[in-house]
Amino acid sequence: MIILGIESSCDETGVGIIELADDGTMTILADSVASSMEQHARFGGVVPEIASRAHLEAMQPVMRAALDEAGIDKPDAVAATVGPGLAGALLVGASAAKAYAAAWDVPFYGVNHLGGHVAVATLEGEELPHSVALLVSGGHTQILEVQAVGKPMKELGSTLDDAAGEAYDKVARLLGLGYPGGPVIDKLAARGNKKAIAFPRGLSKKDDLRGPHRYDFSFSGLKTAVARYVEAAERAGKVISVEDVCASFQEAVCDVLTAKAVRACEDTGAKVLLLGGGVAANSRLRELARRRCESKGIELRVPRFKLCTDNGVMIAAVGAQLIHEGAAPSGLRIGTDTSLEVEVPLVPAPAV
Ligand code: KG4
Ligand code: ZN
Repeated sequence: MIILGIESSCDETGVGIIELADDGTMTILADSVASSMEQHARFGGVVPEIASRAHLEAMQPVMRAALDEAGIDKPDAVAATVGPGLAGALLVGASAAKAYAAAWDVPFYGVNHLGGHVAVATLEGEELPHSVALLVSGGHTQILEVQAVGKPMKELGSTLDDAAGEAYDKVARLLGLGYPGGPVIDKLAARGNKKAIAFPRGLSKKDDLRGPHRYDFSFSGLKTAVARYVEAAERAGKVISVEDVCASFQEAVCDVLTAKAVRACEDTGAKVLLLGGGVAANSRLRELARRRCESKGIELRVPRFKLCTDNGVMIAAVGAQLIHEGAAPSGLRIGTDTSLEVEVPLVPAPAV
């Protein structure tokens, strides 16, 4: 069976095609992605209306490229992200997906975007056992407990304010480093001293860790602390080391992300920590995660970078898993949901 997946929840328009063998093995036939990132650069972050318009313009060319790459005219099923994500962006992709499914007369599966980030872990041949996923991008920051791909997941924690990638983008903006902020801060941080400035670790005090925010994140205080530090230096006429600010900021983010993710593994008994999302490219995050996982006997899995960022293949992978398990399609009547819960990997057909 051939399953086509469509992703459009943020600023990437993705169409991925997967072949599902009878034994459940999946082979990637096509992975076509267009990004509107450059159009958002002068605003320092994703502008929802610009993203929606870009999806509309990119959908057909990306679809054509994917079908050509796979060498097929039509798939046997269509899956699309129906949430969580930006309202307009989700609508464009899900509507296009339903139209394609109707025109090709094939079943439609509405899937959860975060489930897609987890599903890529199985595309490189390995099964995913009981695990914890740390999903960090410009749009989401989540710690999820995963029993298996395509099964309901449990959200252990998320950010109360900015996403991790958003914090990178905002700090880069205030330092005048451009957009997206992650890669440039990562690079400058490598030349700085991560202990130079003691920036705050959000929700990491003893009381936070004992209370309901044990696995939650907050990055807005950190962002403000960086702004205050820069302003104070300017007022005092001092020259700051941008490298040290980047390294110290990055350390604060990665310290909290990895500490909470590893703690979630220990608490749940999960033996695997899976990273996903654009921030999974971060060199310090990977290094700290590797070290902390190693010391606790936890296996760290980081899919190759193209599969970490938003793409259509990850959505096709969830669709393929659901089909393999014999799940019923969601049909064309389902809607999109900007804050879809992770407990729902496949969005069921609405009651008639
Ligand atoms: O998953 P993604 O490509 O797109 C969405 O957010 O939808 O993630 C993009 C985010 C941006 O905020 C960017 O600054 C961040 O990932 N990012 C990084 C790095 N590369 C990309 N953050 C930290 N370090 C990096 N090396
Ligand atoms: Zn994502």
